[in-house]
Amino acid sequence: MIDSWPTSARLWDRAKGSLPGGVSTGMRASMRPHPLFFRGGRGPVLTDVDGNDYLDHVLGWGPVILGHGHPGLTEAVTRRLPYGATFGAGHELEFLAAEAVLEAVPGAERVLWSNTGSEADQIALRLARAATGRNRFVKMTGHYHGWSDAFLLGYRPDAEGRLDQTGTHGQSPAALSDVSLAPWGDLEAVSSVLRDPAQDIAAVFVEPVLCNSGVIAPPDGYLAGLRSLCDETGTLLVFDEVITGFRIALGGAVELYGVQPDLVVLAKALAGGYPVAAVIGRDAVLGQSTRGVVHAGTYNGNPVVLAAVKATVEALAEPGVYPAFEANGRRLADGMRAALDRHGVPAAINQVGPVVQVLPGMDRCDTFTQFLAGDQRWYDVLTVELLRRGVFALPGGRWYLSAAHTAAHVDTTVEAFGAAVAATVETDGLPRGALQGGGVAG
Ligand SMILES: Cc1ncc(COP(=O)(O)O)c(C=O)c1O
Repeated sequence: MIDSWPTSARLWDRAKGSLPGGVSTGMRASMRPHPLFFRGGRGPVLTDVDGNDYLDHVLGWGPVILGHGHPGLTEAVTRRLPYGATFGAGHELEFLAAEAVLEAVPGAERVLWSNTGSEADQIALRLARAATGRNRFVKMTGHYHGWSDAFLLGYRPDAEGRLDQTGTHGQSPAALSDVSLAPWGDLEAVSSVLRDPAQDIAAVFVEPVLCNSGVIAPPDGYLAGLRSLCDETGTLLVFDEVITGFRIALGGAVELYGVQPDLVVLAKALAGGYPVAAVIGRDAVLGQSTRGVVHAGTYNGNPVVLAAVKATVEALAEPGVYPAFEANGRRLADGMRAALDRHGVPAAINQVGPVVQVLPGMDRCDTFTQFLAGDQRWYDVLTVELLRRGVFALPGGRWYLSAAHTAAHVDTTVEAFGAAVAATVETDGLPRGALQGGGVAG
C-alpha cells in the first residue's frame, strides 16, 4: 500500500516556483492528494517518480488509447524525427493520415488539421457561420467544447447554481449573446430555438455521448431527431467527438449511432497522445477554408504528429480492438457495480465502450441535472484510496481503458476498486454534499 509520495511532493514544490500552481493546466491542480509526477509508462502501467506503478485509467485525460509506449506508434514517430520538426508546407503524411481518417469515419469527405480540440471546435463554428450566413449556435448544458470564450458557457453551474453566466473569470460577457443553451436530450427545446429565425442559429454543437458530464448515452432517436431538425432549418449539426472519436467505435458516434452530422471534431485518441485535432466533413463546408474562411496555424499538419495519427488509426483498425473495448468496459462497469453493492455504497455506473463513469449517490444517471447531484466529496476520498492501491483515476468519476488493458488488468483494477470503496466506508463514512467542481474536462 502506498502511503505518501515524497518525491512527487518535492518536485511539485519545485514546480510551483516556475509554473502557476506547479501544473500545466489548472484542472490538474485538482488531482488528489496532490499532483503526482511520473517517470513514464508501459502499456496500461504508469510509474511515478517515487517508483510506484499504477494501472492507468487517466490515460493522459483520454488520448493514450493504445496504452503507453505502443511499439507501432513509437516506431512511426521515431522514424519521422530525424527528418525535421515541421516544414510549414505540404508533405505526404498530410494526405496519408487524412485518408486513414476518412476511411475510418463514415461519410466525411475532407480533413482539416488543427492542434487541439479547443481550436478545432472554434474553426468548426466559424465554418458553420460562413456556410449558413448566421451567427449564433446551440450548445447543450453540461457539454464541453474546449476553453475558448465562444464555448465555455453552460458547462458547470456557478456558485449561485446558474448555468447562463460566463464560465470563467476573464471571459468576454459578449460570448453569452452568441449562444442558446439547451438541455441535453430535449428535442422540443432545440426545435423551438431552431424554428425561430430571430435566433439566427448557424449550428448545433453536441457531444454525441455526453462524456464530460456522466458518460450519458443519447436517448433513443435523439441524434436522429437533431439531424432532422437541422435539415429542416438549414442548420449545421456538429458532433464534438473529441472523446468519442476512435474510442466508442473506429468511426466514433457517427458509426455507432448511424447519424451523419455535417462536421465532426476529433482530437484526443486520434494520435494516441500526440497533440493533434481535426475537423472532418463535407467538402462544401471545409473547402471554405481556402475561400475566405481563415483557418491558420503554424503547427497545422505537423509531420511528426501526423505519423502518429496514421499509426494510431492503423493500430485501432486491427480486428478485435473494439469488441475488446466493449467487453473490458462492461467488465469494469459490472465489477464496480458489484463492489459498490457489496459495501452498500449507493452509486450508479454508466458505460459506453471503454469509457466508464462512477456516479456517486444515485441509482441512475440519464440527465445532466442528475449528474450535478452527485456526491463528489466521497469520490475525492475514493481516488486517493485507489491511488494508494495502485490505480490512477481521474477526478470527477470518468474512467478510460486503452487497448493495452486486458481482462486481467481490469480484474486487478476491480479488486483495488472494491478495497478502496471498503476503505472509504471504514475510515471516512460516506461524506455527503454538493458536487464541488467535479466531472472536470480535460
Ligand atoms: C468533448 C470535448 N471537446 C473539446 C475538448 C477540448 O479539447 P482540448 O483539450 O484538446 O483543447 C475536450 C477536452 O477534454 C472535450 O472533452
